[in-house]
Amino acid sequence: MERGFPEGFLWGCATAAHQVEGGNHNNDWWEFEQRGGIRTGDSSDPACDHYHRFAGDFRQLRQLGQNAHRLSIEWSRVEPAPGEFDLSQLRHYRDVLSELREQGLSPMVTLHHFTSPLWFTCRGGWAAAGSPAAWLPFVRRVAEELGHLVSFWCTLNEPLIYAYMGWLDGEFPPGRRGDWRGTFRVLANLRRAHEEAYRALHRITPQVPVGIANHRWPLLPHNPKRRLDRLAARVGDRLMTSWPVGRGRLQRVVEAPSDFLGVNHYSRELVRFTLRRTGQGFVDRSVPPGLPLSDFGWAVEPDWLREALLELKPLGKPVYITENGIASVNDEPRQSFLPASLAKAWEAIQAGVDLRGYFHWTSLDNFEWARGYSMRFGLIGVDPETQVRTVKPSAELYARIARANALPDD
Ligand code: FCB
Repeated sequence: MERGFPEGFLWGCATAAHQVEGGNHNNDWWEFEQRGGIRTGDSSDPACDHYHRFAGDFRQLRQLGQNAHRLSIEWSRVEPAPGEFDLSQLRHYRDVLSELREQGLSPMVTLHHFTSPLWFTCRGGWAAAGSPAAWLPFVRRVAEELGHLVSFWCTLNEPLIYAYMGWLDGEFPPGRRGDWRGTFRVLANLRRAHEEAYRALHRITPQVPVGIANHRWPLLPHNPKRRLDRLAARVGDRLMTSWPVGRGRLQRVVEAPSDFLGVNHYSRELVRFTLRRTGQGFVDRSVPPGLPLSDFGWAVEPDWLREALLELKPLGKPVYITENGIASVNDEPRQSFLPASLAKAWEAIQAGVDLRGYFHWTSLDNFEWARGYSMRFGLIGVDPETQVRTVKPSAELYARIARANALPDD
């Protein structure tokens, strides 16, 4: 039986500006890098030099049968100082988006993917009162100048991961640990920022659907028979999916105003209650046993993608997989992961999920935040010395599926 996807299904890859562009010296990640925040000691400059090579990179994706592309616009380039917009950078992104359109790739544009300009973080970043108001002029300006070229907006990328990694875990800037108050302040501000951006984008570009690229990383009890583990998992999972809406109340991010639901899915973890880890919310996290692990140490189980999609069905909105992928130096695991994950996405569609597109993380082996170039998620290899691109077999495999708009028979 041929497993076909709905007509007009989007097949693409997802990227983030700082991870591919190179030359971003005016944001918090660059500063974090200067303070030794990158575990491997790698530099995000030139990354994939995509800032200069975007046209060739997009041509390549087109040749690989893709018809959409998720990318972010680097705020620190467009607004290098508060209220000062750099017209040459706006022109650059106009060229980028026009090139995507010319290549037949529908652009899904993320307006905040982890990086913020230094002027903003120096004022306290997303933890500061007034941060949503400081971000909105950028959102409005980009919408006014570039909105006619955009097919979808993602206001934010993974607000929960952003807040937890930066304020609780410390692997992301500002590198704070165990700062729960900061975490909640950041999340409250991101929620306000999203809601205001949602309204502004609807006003300026009413034809462009707006959503969030929200992660889904379920937490399950380490020992389902242990009451405290079950409680830790329930509380942890609630905290990893929700943001504050007023005093003491939480709202699931998927319930925020949006025209579609974007889901970034990679893995799951088990949690065990412990009195030792106060800063970590009294939980020990571990990897579910008995499954293959990616180079990141994340358990790989494609069926979890189907479950993540089914959870969204009751919300009755169009769904896009805005990220899904596997860190692996060798391409073989990706060659089985990709069709297996897409088979699960197909099953979710049969079960009634209104899934309309898949953005694989990612096109090019790139700068994986604090892990530098050690984590290879790309369908296309990049030699960091020479910038030579090499199409991997998984890219060809994905191309066959995308062109057929269907999964192979076996
Ligand atoms: C997600 C991020 C993305 C990339 C992948 C591996 O959390 O959104 O930028 O780092 O993980």
